[in-house]
Amino acid sequence: MKIVMTGATGGIGLEAAQRLVSDAATRLTIGARTPDRLPGPLRGRAEAVALDLASLTSVRAFAAAVAERDPIDVLILNAGIQNVTDAKSADGFELSFAVNHLAHYLLVRLLLPRMAPGGRIILTASGTHDPAEKTGIPPPRHIDAARLAWPHQDPDLDRRRMVRGQRAYSTSKLANVMTARELADRTGDTRPDLTIIAFDPGFTPGTGLARDYPGPSGLIFRFLLPLLVKKTDRVSTPQNSGRLLAELATDPGHAGLRGRYMAVRRQEVVDVPPSAVAHDAELMAQLWDNSAGLVGL
Ligand SMILES: NC(=O)c1ccc[n+]([C@@H]2O[C@H](COP(=O)([O-])OP(=O)(O)OC[C@H]3O[C@@H](n4cnc5c(N)ncnc54)[C@H](OP(=O)(O)O)[C@@H]3O)[C@@H](O)[C@H]2O)c1
Repeated sequence: MKIVMTGATGGIGLEAAQRLVSDAATRLTIGARTPDRLPGPLRGRAEAVALDLASLTSVRAFAAAVAERDPIDVLILNAGIQNVTDAKSADGFELSFAVNHLAHYLLVRLLLPRMAPGGRIILTASGTHDPAEKTGIPPPRHIDAARLAWPHQDPDLDRRRMVRGQRAYSTSKLANVMTARELADRTGDTRPDLTIIAFDPGFTPGTGLARDYPGPSGLIFRFLLPLLVKKTDRVSTPQNSGRLLAELATDPGHAGLRGRYMAVRRQEVVDVPPSAVAHDAELMAQLWDNSAGLVGL
């Protein structure tokens, strides 16, 4: 089985990748910022190809390199960041929207023709995309691609840097959910064989996701919260969410899901409805078309 994956070098993705390569029949290609420095458990067991999702040029080069190889059975788009520093991508877009959404949107568009019959595409999203989840992260207010790419054009932009960074993150994750759903819709006639899933790993402290947070917050998220946080319905661990991501990628029981939102609840994945906005067909079509414009398709 040929698997291509982003975000396999740390956190949830590394846990998933280790499980995937434990099957000798799996050939895993990882898009990595530093391909010559794969984490120990993956060295010699996975192939790494240079990919910086903060650059559309790099995304195109990665897609071209991968497209030359065998057809892809599973495409896992798991990389993600929470940029709370107002940083921009190489293309001048707000960094979380650029890395989490635009880069993966472009990758999926470029690699779609290389998907093997019966292939799977998984986009890692987040419960933060849904205001009803009340995760503590400010939820999305709109899904206007241009205002998300260039937030200074947004008249309602949050004043506090932390709040606008976190809201940019939750909104990029809404874009992941909507991309999965719109992709399923648009390929209904041409690629009905594909399984297309948006995955919410649940609240999963212990990863590097908060690394850009000010002061010790990133370290607290990585090392202290896993010890302190109570195991509620929506709390998981990197090991458990990695296990579930690997299962979504390979378990025959998950084949045939089209645009479904699979979320971790009580340590297992369940098929739950995404937010109300992620049911709005017009907004999903607009996001798709406007994202195409931003990435130059
Ligand atoms: N942790 C949670 O509570 C939680 C909750 C819901 C959803 N999620 C989602 O789960 C996914 C994995 O996050 P995580 O918590 O495991 O975080 P993590 O430990 O920080 O892992 C993030 C991964 O993304 C990669 N990445 C980041 N920026 C990149 C770039 N510009 N180009 C290429 N790769 C890049 C990282 O690579 P490097 O090794 O190069 O940094 C790393 O492999 C994300 O999509 C996140 O939004 C996490």
